[in-house]
Amino acid sequence: MTETIVLGCGYVGTRLACQYLGRGEGVTGVVRSEKGLARLAEAGVPGLRRDLALDDLDGLALAGARLFHLVPPPDEGVEDALTHRLVKAFESSGSPRRLVYLSTTGVYGDCQGAWIDESWPARPAADRSHRRWDAEQTLHRWSRETGGELIVLRVAGIYGPGRLPLERIRRGVPLVRPQESPYTNRIHVDDLVAVCLAAMEKGRQGAIYNACDGHPSGMTDYFLQVADAAGLARPPLITKAEAAGRLSPGMLGYLSESRRLSNRKIRDELGLELRYPTLVDGLRASL
Ligand SMILES: NC(=O)c1ccc[n+]([C@@H]2O[C@H](COP(=O)([O-])OP(=O)(O)OC[C@H]3O[C@@H](n4cnc5c(N)ncnc54)[C@H](OP(=O)(O)O)[C@@H]3O)[C@@H](O)[C@H]2O)c1
Repeated sequence: MTETIVLGCGYVGTRLACQYLGRGEGVTGVVRSEKGLARLAEAGVPGLRRDLALDDLDGLALAGARLFHLVPPPDEGVEDALTHRLVKAFESSGSPRRLVYLSTTGVYGDCQGAWIDESWPARPAADRSHRRWDAEQTLHRWSRETGGELIVLRVAGIYGPGRLPLERIRRGVPLVRPQESPYTNRIHVDDLVAVCLAAMEKGRQGAIYNACDGHPSGMTDYFLQVADAAGLARPPLITKAEAAGRLSPGMLGYLSESRRLSNRKIRDELGLELRYPTLVDGLRASL
């Protein structure tokens, strides 16, 4: 039977690995830390500890495997040296038969609130988005040169049980008033796992798919909906000009990009019907 490997087996990857185990299929989860390994053991997922930045990937049957690549890029720079190392490792281990890569919607850059689909050109702006774009390009090159199959998922903000900004809301960190807040896109973790499985099973070779719920809303609206659903006090509202001195550089970066993502392609090509197409549905299942 084909080996399934989840490289970067964290919040999403553990749930994904459990789906394979539930079907009676073998799977190996790869993490970087002892803590990650202990978490996998608790979930019953066979695990290996390897740091893609430092270690060889010996002990992993990569040749001919189904490989999910969920390792985030490094924290700095405009390249993803980890994905470069992964592709290099394929030269000695042999290539996977099919690789599903979890990229981000950040590669589209700022679209000024426009509705966009996968045909929209990538115009990454932030360094973190350049790193993702670099990883996508590296993997497409590998696919072209070796014939290994590649599916890229451009993933929106992931939320679910244990992945809600409750702490931020409790601390009362201010939000930009709704009329100045950019559009953001999200996906519930269970739906993302379903997209990953469908992409591995029936994604078109070389295709890119947006993994999102298709119901974007303002970033501030998201935080307010979470606060209301969790019964927490709504954080104070400030203007975008005031935000410059009060919010983190990371948050200011997110505030400078606005786009509304279509998920038609995952519905039409992968035949997916999302369990949580709206935040109202998804938050109820997350709290
Ligand atoms: N959060 C979002 O809204 C969002 C949106 C779009 C895309 N994504 C991307 O989607 C992917 C899955 O997300 P997630 O929430 O499941 O991430 P996560 O919980 O942070 O899991 C990442 C996993 O990668 C492992 N890892 C990190 N660096 C590694 C290295 N150098 N070598 C080997 N393993 C390494 C971690 O190991 P340990 O368990 O040992 O730490 C962890 O298991 C990530 O690439 C994430 O950046 C996230």
